[in-house]
Amino acid sequence: MIFLVPGGAGYIGSHMVKYLQEAGHEAVVLDDFSTGHEWAVKDSEIMRLSLLDQEALSRALKGRKFDCVIHFAGKSLVDESIKRSNAYYRSNVVGSLNLINELMLNDNNNMVFSSSAAIFGNPITDKINEDHPRDPINPYGRTKLTVENFLEHICDTHGLNATCLRYFNAAGAHHSGTLGEAHEPETHLIPKILNRENYSSENLKVYGDDYDTPDGTCIRDYVHVEDLAQAHLKALEFMQVNKGFYTFNLGNGNGFSVLEVIKACEHVLGRRVDYQFADRREGDPPVLIADSAKAIDQLGWSPQHTSLESIIMSAYFWHLNKSEFSLQ
Ligand SMILES: NC(=O)c1ccc[n+]([C@@H]2O[C@H](COP(=O)([O-])OP(=O)(O)OC[C@H]3O[C@@H](n4cnc5c(N)ncnc54)[C@H](O)[C@@H]3O)[C@@H](O)[C@H]2O)c1
Repeated sequence: MIFLVPGGAGYIGSHMVKYLQEAGHEAVVLDDFSTGHEWAVKDSEIMRLSLLDQEALSRALKGRKFDCVIHFAGKSLVDESIKRSNAYYRSNVVGSLNLINELMLNDNNNMVFSSSAAIFGNPITDKINEDHPRDPINPYGRTKLTVENFLEHICDTHGLNATCLRYFNAAGAHHSGTLGEAHEPETHLIPKILNRENYSSENLKVYGDDYDTPDGTCIRDYVHVEDLAQAHLKALEFMQVNKGFYTFNLGNGNGFSVLEVIKACEHVLGRRVDYQFADRREGDPPVLIADSAKAIDQLGWSPQHTSLESIIMSAYFWHLNKSEFSLQ
């Protein structure tokens, strides 16, 4: 099969492309390389353009047929979305609408969309399933929910098939050690710990030590990037049989506090990791843990990397190898 992968040069998108290629499929990457990397894409046609450039997008997609479009492109920093909400609405909402419009014009009818746990806001249940109220508390989450709502409408009215996958915290790296996370700046906890030259407390801040959690720090659910890739292909297989609009939450089902992640990193690194406490960040819910039973039951999703330590090990393997495989 042939896939269009907007955002395929980014962290999760590049793992998706590799996963598709390893499964014998072809992937065409569409990316403006604003946060993605050329070194992360191998053996793919590349459309270098922004989803915000309607004319270029229209030219590039005219007459092109894809079995499925897996849409990762967008901005994804909660903090930045609070400071630059316009840019987030433009990138995530306008960009997605431009893409969906061109896909419909060219009779491309299957899409998997990267949504986020951020659409739920502050949880009212221990684990978040698909029936949990959607009440985002930051602009990033609102942009994702807007696109989900639009997709649902287009599926009802124009015969598109779309699946929204709400990832919790993507983490880890490709098992080969040749591909992994490389955001600049890096805001994700695990690579942030591993990337530091020395393990001093200076540039590792733990935001908030007074949350209503056992150790006072935020609790998150870490899901391996290769397990996420598996779910996307399963979502297409599901939509080929069940037409329409679907949503699935993707996480490990286990929550780890920031301090627990730091401890697990210390174990993998075999050394102490110092940190400093800082004020809470606006827009950060205290606990986010997925209930992924629906994805497991209906998609047949079977995550392979369920322990925090194995996720961190894979990120560390990439960390050791990345100077060889990236241009950094
Ligand atoms: N990383 C996570 O933990 C996480 C969690 C939930 C949801 N998501 C969502 O998953 C998707 C991928 O996340 P990621 O961590 O790989 O991010 P990323 O920044 O590494 O990848 C995004 C990619 O999209 C490209 N891009 C951005 N704007 C574009 C535009 N206008 N036109 C074309 N390309 C554009 C970037 O260059 C980059 O390659 C995002 O939509 C994000 O919101 C990520």
